[in-house]
Amino acid sequence: MTTKFRWGILGTGRIARKFAASVATLPDAVLAAVGSRSAASAEAFDREFQIPVHHSSYAGLANDPAVDGIYIATPSPRHAGDMRLCLEAGKPVLCEKPFTVNSREANEIIALARARRVLLMEALWTRFLPAVVRMRELIAAGRIGPPQSLVADIGFPVTDRKGRLLDPAQGGGALLDVGVYPVSLASMLFGPAIAATGYADIGDTGVDEAFAIALRHAGGKLTLAQGSFRCALPLEATVSGPLGYLRIPAPWWKAQTLILAIAGKPEERWDLSYPSFGLQFEAAAFAAHWRAGRTEASEMPLDETLSTLQTLDQLRAQWGLRYPGE
Ligand SMILES: NC(=O)c1ccc[n+]([C@@H]2O[C@H](COP(=O)([O-])OP(=O)(O)OC[C@H]3O[C@@H](n4cnc5c(N)ncnc54)[C@H](OP(=O)(O)O)[C@@H]3O)[C@@H](O)[C@H]2O)c1
Repeated sequence: MTTKFRWGILGTGRIARKFAASVATLPDAVLAAVGSRSAASAEAFDREFQIPVHHSSYAGLANDPAVDGIYIATPSPRHAGDMRLCLEAGKPVLCEKPFTVNSREANEIIALARARRVLLMEALWTRFLPAVVRMRELIAAGRIGPPQSLVADIGFPVTDRKGRLLDPAQGGGALLDVGVYPVSLASMLFGPAIAATGYADIGDTGVDEAFAIALRHAGGKLTLAQGSFRCALPLEATVSGPLGYLRIPAPWWKAQTLILAIAGKPEERWDLSYPSFGLQFEAAAFAAHWRAGRTEASEMPLDETLSTLQTLDQLRAQWGLRYPGE
């Protein structure tokens, strides 16, 4: 029998709770410890998910010998520092998206993990969902011909004007927080963008509340993406080739269904729903890489994490959008 992968969770917010619930569905993983800035939050999280150990500091978790790997679920401006803490303690890291605020930070952290030969992966969970895996298989099988175009949108109205999503100090802004999904999907399908342009509207908190971007990839492939914290967008992603298209209906980044449309043929549809919140697939892949002694994940290469952030940097530079400390 495989030994259970012992997860440590760093940060006790909304997505950390979804991750804990998702990991609980995995037979070969266990929630071993949680770390919080406050003892009260760590205890509350521990009670909710019956985690045997809680630490009232992130350093306590990073140095816990009974933890095999750490999932980081803090706001993105903290990611680089929190990853450094864990990697320097020799702990494999699965870090929430966006991996860091900019490519400079990502470069430093990736170099650290590579120098120390410690497993590091961006928690871009959408890539690991069964519907996205099926999409890649159908494309590889040539069902739509060579894919040439991606159109994707992601957005919903944000009413809490003081919350994380609109707060520059917490890495808010539509491009950084949700735009990373279509930019990363485009990179998965076509390789990194070789050019990026677009428009954004910066709101009164100092971050972009809406963006519309176009990316160019090698071989003339193109991506069109829109994001918004103002509109209830359709939340769909469509990748097209000469024979037809593959569409993931709303909300595509939580993909549960896949549709194949080929001209002149009846539509094919796959129901690929999953239990819990869907973060179990990235967690299982991470543990599998760890068991195999790998330090990078083939499904989410660190070079791609870096190039995605370079694209976001390039777009933000066009808009004059900077985060505190940049
Ligand atoms: N994969 C997804 O679908 C998904 C969805 C939502 C968010 N995310 C990503 O996950 C990360 C966290 O998002 P979230 O929505 O879970 O945020 P959240 O609810 O605000 O939780 C963030 C947690 O980070 C810790 N923290 C450390 N420093 C903090 C600070 N200065 N301000 C606030 N919290 C701080 C806190 O835990 P302690 O008090 O215990 O230290 C807090 O509970 C972000 O990078 C976000 O982009 C991913």
